[in-house]
Amino acid sequence: MTGSDFTILPRHVAVIMDGNGRWAKQRGLSRSEGHIEGAKTFRKIGEYAGNLGIQHITFYAFSTENWSRPEAEVNGIMALFGEYLNEALNRLDENRKKGIRLRFLGDKSAISPALRELMDSVEKYTEDMTKVNLNIAVNYGSQQEITGAVKALCEKAKNGGLSPEDITPELISSHLYTSGQPPVDLMIRPSGEQRISNFLLWQSAYAEFWYSDVLWPDFTEKDFDEALLAYQKRNRRFGGI
Ligand code: FPP
Repeated sequence: MTGSDFTILPRHVAVIMDGNGRWAKQRGLSRSEGHIEGAKTFRKIGEYAGNLGIQHITFYAFSTENWSRPEAEVNGIMALFGEYLNEALNRLDENRKKGIRLRFLGDKSAISPALRELMDSVEKYTEDMTKVNLNIAVNYGSQQEITGAVKALCEKAKNGGLSPEDITPELISSHLYTSGQPPVDLMIRPSGEQRISNFLLWQSAYAEFWYSDVLWPDFTEKDFDEALLAYQKRNRRFGGI
């Protein structure tokens, strides 16, 4: 489909890339092989969403809780990030033509210095791009993110620069990783699970949720279309009637 096939497109789509492990298990492969396929799907859907005209898309790639997975699996996922970042740096001109800005949501301090450097470079080289904003959540946890915002505001209050009545939802939003970005309109979770898993809790206050039983490595452009078609049929009331 193309963007004009839809009557309304969400401004911000969030995707929980779930089911890589089960996809691999069904095929007698290692979990890391599931993530390799998942990374291919990430590229495909990111590209497709941009072509449709989705302005903001956020993929959940690694949570603060994912460090508890076996070391080989964690290393495998980190290696995939490295490959993708090198590829993005090698294709800067192409990405600039497409107007893609890449950003990372999460606490980078726990990421290896080499990978962190790549992340910072990609963010820096794409920061003036305005067509598509593609966020990748890495070492991300929503409760940790909100806690960080509260701490930053307390610090400002302690220094006398802020009083309690100055604290508004907008001010809190501006202290999150997604500062300046619109809230999530549509949250997609494949693989049959129906939970939010500490992902964009604040930003998804009025998001529409769409679930599918398809495992992430099998997720196609057609599945994405289905989510968008379901979204445009929803009657969003934002607490009104
Ligand atoms: C959840 O599925 C998936 C992850 C924790 C990792 C997701 C990472 C990728 C798809 C690679 C992303 C790569 C780039 C370049 C951004 P799961 O392993 O929990 O699946 P399961 O529930 O079937 O076990």
